[in-house]
Amino acid sequence: MAIMRLCPNSYLSVTHKITGLQNNLKLFHFTPRPPPLFSSIFTHSVADNDAVTSQVEVSSSNPSTKHNDPPFSGLDETMTGFLFGKKKATEVAHAVWKNVVRKGDLVVDATCGNGYDTLAMLRLIADDSRRGRVFAMDLQKDALESTSSLLDRSLTADERGLVELYAMCHTKMEDLVPKGAAVRLVAFNLGYLPGGDKKIKTESETTLLALEAAKRMLARGGLISILAYVGHSGGREEFEKVELFAAELAADNWVCSKLQMLNRPSAPVLVLISKK
Ligand SMILES: C[S@@+](CC[C@H](N)C(=O)[O-])C[C@H]1O[C@@H](n2cnc3c(N)ncnc32)[C@H](O)[C@@H]1O
Repeated sequence: MAIMRLCPNSYLSVTHKITGLQNNLKLFHFTPRPPPLFSSIFTHSVADNDAVTSQVEVSSSNPSTKHNDPPFSGLDETMTGFLFGKKKATEVAHAVWKNVVRKGDLVVDATCGNGYDTLAMLRLIADDSRRGRVFAMDLQKDALESTSSLLDRSLTADERGLVELYAMCHTKMEDLVPKGAAVRLVAFNLGYLPGGDKKIKTESETTLLALEAAKRMLARGGLISILAYVGHSGGREEFEKVELFAAELAADNWVCSKLQMLNRPSAPVLVLISKK
């Protein structure tokens, strides 16, 4: 077990080894290099495993976080809330994103579902420059409609223009982002659409392909964030594959961790993969 020091009084235990739709919805159906139908303002050209034999304290002044100022802002409260059962893993994920994503960044929501993660991402990248983009995707029409509706209700027209929604499998995410563009965050919220058809869910095989794509696209200092649900059929197997994917990344270039409740075996697990 390794202990990551977050602030003078709180410690996060990190186990390193175990350690047609388009027109009325502003959606994009995926075709290779899809023409954005509603993005007239789109101008972008566009492991080594640690041996878990001792407790290691990792300073929050790690050089990999140097672009953040101040480092880990806002995370203390959320992490402490999580440790005492008052905050959800999703809230921790969003708080971590805040320390990685900057205004004007390109980010990817690989499973937009009902749009809550997409909205959280938009809040991080949107500013007057309108350079930032959220590329959000889902297999399901219902999910895209739900996301679109949430965004329309929550955002100004200018902000809404910074989100592109695609009906597609996340294995193809690289086709959305111009080659060489720096992607700061790729977020996965695995499983099925809450309130939707539970048979339509993420699957290990495609999730791993999408993770490989995310790994190729990610900028230095960027983050792949995966919330894995282990309580449904196939969920635990999928999580274990994600965990293995992260555990095998070279420690020279990647910092991989997970946040898991020990006495609630069905609670979702947050896996964070940070590129140095
Ligand atoms: C747990 S939900 C996502 C929740 C969402 N992020 C939110 O904030 O509401 C998982 C979503 O993944 C979608 N999904 C499943 N397999 C997918 C795939 N291969 N590519 C893209 N989306 C997929 C499902 O349709 C479902 O809507």
